[in-house]
Order: sequence, then C-alpha cells, then structure tokens
Amino acid sequence: MRIIRTTQALRTWQRRHDPLRGSIGLVPTMGALHGGHRALIRHARRTCGTVVVSIFVNPLQFGPAEDYRRYPRDLSRDLACCREENVDLVFLPKAETLYPHDFQTTVAVGALSQRWEGEHRPTHFQGVTTVVTKLLNLVRPDRAFLGQKDYQQYCVIRQLVKDLDLDLRITLCPTVRDADGFALSSRNRYVTNTQRQRALALYQALAAGKQAIAGGTRRADLVEKKMVKVLDAGHGLAIDYLRCCDARSLEPLTRLRGTVVLLGAIRVGGVRFIDNLIVRIR
Ligand code: PAF
Repeated sequence: MRIIRTTQALRTWQRRHDPLRGSIGLVPTMGALHGGHRALIRHARRTCGTVVVSIFVNPLQFGPAEDYRRYPRDLSRDLACCREENVDLVFLPKAETLYPHDFQTTVAVGALSQRWEGEHRPTHFQGVTTVVTKLLNLVRPDRAFLGQKDYQQYCVIRQLVKDLDLDLRITLCPTVRDADGFALSSRNRYVTNTQRQRALALYQALAAGKQAIAGGTRRADLVEKKMVKVLDAGHGLAIDYLRCCDARSLEPLTRLRGTVVLLGAIRVGGVRFIDNLIVRIR
C-alpha cells in the first residue's frame, strides 16, 4: 500500500496510473475509520481496479465553535485498516498542503446545502464541497463512494458533480449500524454510554416513521408527529429537525410519494447526532 502526502506526488501517481489497472475508486474520509468506512472501501474494492482512500480532517468544514481540534485522530489504526482492506493508495495531506497560506477559493452549492444541516452549520457544506472538489481534481477517480449516514452531504456532492460537469459516478452506500440500529460514526468515539442510549431514540423514531409509511400513512405531518412522539423530546434531548423530505431535492413534503427520506438531527448533552432512512413508496 502506497502512502502519498503531497499534491505533486499524487499528480505524478495519477498521470502514471495505468488504465489497464482498471478504474480508480475514491473513498474520501476524515480518518477514525470504522465499519462504515470499511463497507465503503469494500464496495470500491469490488467495483474498481484501484482503490484510493483519502484521510484528511478538513478544517474548512468545522464551524468556529465545533470540534476540529477534538475530532478523533488515529492514524496507525487507520493505516492498518486500509492495509487489511487491500487499499492501493492512501492520500494523507497536511492542512498546509491543501490550504497554503494564500488559499482563497471556495466552492459552494446553492439551496440544497442551505437547508437542514446547512441551517445549523452555515459554513459546513462549503467546506465539504471545497475539499471534495480538490480531492476529485487531484485523484481524478472514476467513482467516489459516500455513506448514507450523511445523506445531505451525498445530495450536495452529487449536485456539485452535476453542476460542474465532473466526470465521475458517485455511489451511495447504506449506513452501517450496530445491532440495536445506532449508526456508526467517527464521533461515536467520544460519546458516553448514556448519551448513546438517549440518542438511539433518533433511529427508533425514524424507524417508527418508516413503519407508519409502510402501514399506509401518506400525510407527512402525521408521520412527523409519530416520530416526535417516539423521540419524546425532553430529558436533555433537543430536536433540531425531524422531517419527511423528497429524497432528491430535500424539500419538506406534505403528501408522501415517490422516494422519501426521513431526516433527523438531535442534540443530547451538547453532542449532535444525525441519521436518516429512505422509504420508497410504490
Ligand atoms: O464525510 C466525511 O468524512 C467528510 O465530510 C468528507 C466527505 C471526507 C469531506 O471532508
């Protein structure tokens, strides 16, 4: 497994990449790799000849009061994971490498990145789309693999790829969950057991919403009411949003039809949790 730290070395690697070695698949990550990342890497491994994983805690996507400094970092474990999963190349830039002192460009997607997470984290998505544009330009992958856990991020990146005519396919891979349904996330490393136990209610609420739709409910307000009831706001738990949305535009729905995404974000004792479920209505 090769490790590259500079943009120059990556460009050279890219230019010399032999097309006979098959397509290039990119799994962009911020490290602290877990089962969800492994699933993305395995998907890439099955479908691409060359698998690249980028590990970069991107300062641009953290707000001033967010956890950039505290974000879990565990490089030796991450590299061991990449070796185990047969990754061909790990791109491991430093912040100064991607953002030299005179860096002054940002890439921002419009309406799609302003709602839901965008309302609560106003500069988040432009940090994501800026770094993802750079990574895609450097690695030039044929495919990139993203997890459903960050469903809005997937929608925003898909829009970026479409709007800027980037020549690659974005693949969404299902959220990996613990046995009780709790979605895996790098941030789970600093969540206490009590917080986890309370936050599990988010998944349970979404699952109840999905069940209500399966049972024939087509009014979004009724499904949302059901989800809020399961979540039982209170007990130090606050709801940022819990809505039925169109899976493509992420606009809130009144009448449910087509592909619907149930999107939720809550705060438990100062920690934010997001999750979602997709429901296809025939
Ligand atoms: O999902 C993540 O880990 C990050 O937002 C990404 C896509 C690697 C960009 O920094």
